[in-house]
Amino acid sequence: MKSITSVVAFFFGSLGLALAAGTTPCFAQIDIHFHAVTGPMEARVGGLTGHSSDGKALYRRFCVGCHGASGDGNGENAIWFDPTLGFAKPRDFTVAVFKCRSTPSGTLPTDEDLFDALTRGFVTTNMPEWRPLSGLDRADLVAFIKTFSLRWQTDKAGTPIAIPPEPPAKIESILHGRELFQKMECWKCHGPEGRGDGPSAATLTDSKGNPIRPYDFTTGERFKCGVSNRDLYRIFMTGLDGTPMPSFADTIKPEEAWDLVHFLRTLQVSIKTPELATFKQWVSAHPGQLKPIGQQAPSGN
Ligand code: HEC
Ligand code: HEC
Repeated sequence: MKSITSVVAFFFGSLGLALAAGTTPCFAQIDIHFHAVTGPMEARVGGLTGHSSDGKALYRRFCVGCHGASGDGNGENAIWFDPTLGFAKPRDFTVAVFKCRSTPSGTLPTDEDLFDALTRGFVTTNMPEWRPLSGLDRADLVAFIKTFSLRWQTDKAGTPIAIPPEPPAKIESILHGRELFQKMECWKCHGPEGRGDGPSAATLTDSKGNPIRPYDFTTGERFKCGVSNRDLYRIFMTGLDGTPMPSFADTIKPEEAWDLVHFLRTLQVSIKTPELATFKQWVSAHPGQLKPIGQQAPSGN
């Protein structure tokens, strides 16, 4: 009996010690030291000028938990985002590589690109939209993000690509876009129906070595980098840097790019776009005329 009591006492005694030891640091003052590598930075968006000195406190309050004190994307919450389930890791600002740009692949985005990206958030990820913050707050945050990489001192933002006016989404345009989707091998990653299930899809990784899934066009309306036809044009003509999604600026002519935009809209079966209606009407009037998208038999067979 006596020995059991002393075992129990010993057990609770050591548990108490362990708890005491474990809880002590919680009372310590938590101070975040940011690892800025540049001097103060500015961001210009429309008529607003953001200042990194003002962005710091906002970053500490709203962003540090995901993007981290050194801006490397390793904030406390980042471990919970599982790329194998399709959830991207927070962006690493120390390498200054960004997905949503109006500028050519490999160049820095404009301040406005970053402002727009954090305003709209990243659909299908944990990056929220920051519309509730004032415009000036968001501009201050853009300026602060730029303190994490020296690239912002050595490079200038790229020149935004020119986008010609959009032609009407006639059936000829849609069908030509469909040919491009086949010819440019978009289907190898995105799948013949745009479901993100092409033959290469399972093997793709981003520049950090994390698995990444191609976008599934059949779900929802928004893209990570916008919602409009111009956004869609920009996505495949500038590429999503840091991901396997390349830029097609060197291989697709500007006037052809609009055809591809019109075809991509027919893949959005969940929102029933006007392009899908035009396409379906043509298909039912021309049965058996379209070759299926995907691996086609080599010519001569
Ligand atoms: C809950 C987590 C979370 C919080 C909080 C968060 N982010 Fe993000 N952020 C992400 C994730 C995840 C991504 C990557 C999305 C992707 O790559 O698809 C991202 C991406 C970004 C990008 C990349 C834009 C691009 O084009 O590549 C910027 C800029 C950004 N965040 C800024 C901010 C700012 C500023 C704040 C604070 C106001 C913030 N984030 C707060 C999770 C978060
Ligand atoms: C090597 C594989 C690959 C090829 C080829 C490819 N993509 Fe992608 N694409 C991706 C991946 C991966 C993503 C998702 C990136 C992400 O979530 O950050 C993506 C995303 C996209 C998006 C959505 C981006 C967003 O903002 O949500 C569009 C639009 C797109 N691709 C269009 C195309 C078109 C059009 C082609 C052919 C001209 C093409 N892709 C070829 C891999 C590919």
